[in-house]
Amino acid sequence: MISVMDLNKAFSTNKETWNQKVAIHAASDFYDLDGFKKGKSSLNSYELEALGDVSGKSLLHLQCHFGQDTLSWSRLGAECVGVDLSDKAIELAKSLNDELNLDAQFVCCNVLDTSKFVKSQFDIVFTSYGTIGWLPSLKPWAQMIAERLAKGGQFYIVDFHPIAWMFDYTVSPPEMKYGYHQKEVIYDEYEGTYADDGKSKMISKEYGWNHSLRDVLTSLIEAGLHIDSLDEFDASPYDVFPDLEINKQGYFELKTKQYPLLFAVKATKH
Ligand SMILES: C[S@@+](CC[C@H](N)C(=O)[O-])C[C@H]1O[C@@H](n2cnc3c(N)ncnc32)[C@H](O)[C@@H]1O
Repeated sequence: MISVMDLNKAFSTNKETWNQKVAIHAASDFYDLDGFKKGKSSLNSYELEALGDVSGKSLLHLQCHFGQDTLSWSRLGAECVGVDLSDKAIELAKSLNDELNLDAQFVCCNVLDTSKFVKSQFDIVFTSYGTIGWLPSLKPWAQMIAERLAKGGQFYIVDFHPIAWMFDYTVSPPEMKYGYHQKEVIYDEYEGTYADDGKSKMISKEYGWNHSLRDVLTSLIEAGLHIDSLDEFDASPYDVFPDLEINKQGYFELKTKQYPLLFAVKATKH
């Protein structure tokens, strides 16, 4: 177990790292901010198909980074609130919202503290691609999701598969190093960030945690949600792991096809 002091250090280190990533990501081809400003959606087929028509629905986006996905949902007619730990990310998200004349709101806080800052309940709670690995335990996370969902509301997560987080990607070829059920914190320090193609010299210092699919599902069930579906996908919209190949859809898969890169869960508050 990590002590409260160490946990605070982990969150503040992660915040500092994410603050540094914002400007680099905003200038990257990966995030294509120019295309986004011209109207391109940053959303992918998985979440678009899972959530369907969001027009007129309220949507809480957890760990929204600098808001591209939140604002893409806004463009589709959802009334959005985005939450993120990084003040630089929230600053940029708010300025994009103003520049694009949209009506999303953004809140800077630890996602686990969302209910202290956001009091309304939502038709949809959404989170995607690189989220729960920053959290030490899913129990308070799932509890908060249940609190923030309106009755009949839907939760949807699509994120990288826990098998993908068993590997150490700082060595080449990646080594299977971390336990599927590992509870201990994982600390990584490396040059660069996933969105910059090796150009940036920033040092990413990151504390993370692995969570099994069972942990994801049981945390949501224990918080009172009904699980509607669990999916596993071989293809990721993002080329963020070594040795992936592009498929016909333009998504990325392991050349070996040995394990899925993504999982997705849909749950409802009855
Ligand atoms: C990989 S990004 C999420 C991906 C997102 N879909 C996007 O648009 O790229 C991870 C985000 O989680 C945020 N984050 C990390 N730890 C957090 C925490 N404890 N509470 C809230 N946000 C956190 C980071 O600041 C970052 O913006």
